[in-house]
Amino acid sequence: MITGSDGQSRPAGSPKKPLISIKNVGLSYGNFQALTDVSVDFYQGELVGLVGDNGAGKTTLIRIISGIIPPTSGEVYFDGERIIKFHPKKAIDLGLECIQQAIGLCDNLSVGRNYFLGREPVRRILGLPFLDKKKIREASAKVVHDFGLRDSVDVDDEIALLSGGEKQTFKIARAVTFRNRVIIMDEPTNHLSVRERTRVNELAVQLKQQGLLVIYITHDIFQIHRIADRIVILENGRKVTDVPRDAMSAEALEGIIRDGSRTSTKEPKVS
Ligand SMILES: Nc1ncnc2c1ncn2[C@@H]1O[C@H](COP(=O)(O)OP(=O)(O)O)[C@@H](O)[C@H]1O
Ligand SMILES: [Mg+2]
Repeated sequence: MITGSDGQSRPAGSPKKPLISIKNVGLSYGNFQALTDVSVDFYQGELVGLVGDNGAGKTTLIRIISGIIPPTSGEVYFDGERIIKFHPKKAIDLGLECIQQAIGLCDNLSVGRNYFLGREPVRRILGLPFLDKKKIREASAKVVHDFGLRDSVDVDDEIALLSGGEKQTFKIARAVTFRNRVIIMDEPTNHLSVRERTRVNELAVQLKQQGLLVIYITHDIFQIHRIADRIVILENGRKVTDVPRDAMSAEALEGIIRDGSRTSTKEPKVS
């Protein structure tokens, strides 16, 4: 880890330019201020743990990054380009995929169909479009194999037959195949078994080793401290901590989350 002239930490050897830059972002839902003056840079090839108590504003921040809602104030840059129009399609075009626990799969469709959800391959017979079922089967079977899902998983089975961890692994696999720059995971291991959780965390590490930016949201500081390069803590919609993993113990970081930033060595910004 090195510290740039901007005072923010980033992984050693990474390009200086952030892939995503959030500058002084604020967001209000009506009268309620969910985010206040948040600035964070995210670099390619790093795994950033975005941590904070329930209601801290984590999901709101990544909803802004993934183009679902525009900020009320402040700026968002992707690869140096300021994002003016906030739209999920724009984020997808930029290579950004957000994996959320509750959504993203259609339980009544097969594993294969879920793999290509929204981008189904078609072949034409006499000019008429038909689902290319062979391609769906072959490509999805490959990904099931490559990502180490059970051998007994049949891509023609309904996805509902997969366990929570397998579904999560599958969503990550799909994200990796179709997008290639940023993976955001919002509480990806909630309700998973210990083994499944380990698997998802291993995948997160592999993705960043492949050069992706991984933003991993959780309220479990101990879990993320083991794998993240950097920890960013939000508290009541403000960023209160942004440190390389090695700079603080999980216990010290937990203290900040539990007792508020008053216990932090870094004073919260007074505005
Ligand atoms: N659509 C919304 N309308 C009004 N308030 C919201 C909305 N979404 C979230 N909030 C509020 O904003 C705050 C931050 O929420 P959220 O970003 O979901 O926090 P986290 O993901 O850290 O738990 C919470 O107080 C939440 O109740
Ligand atoms: Mg949340």
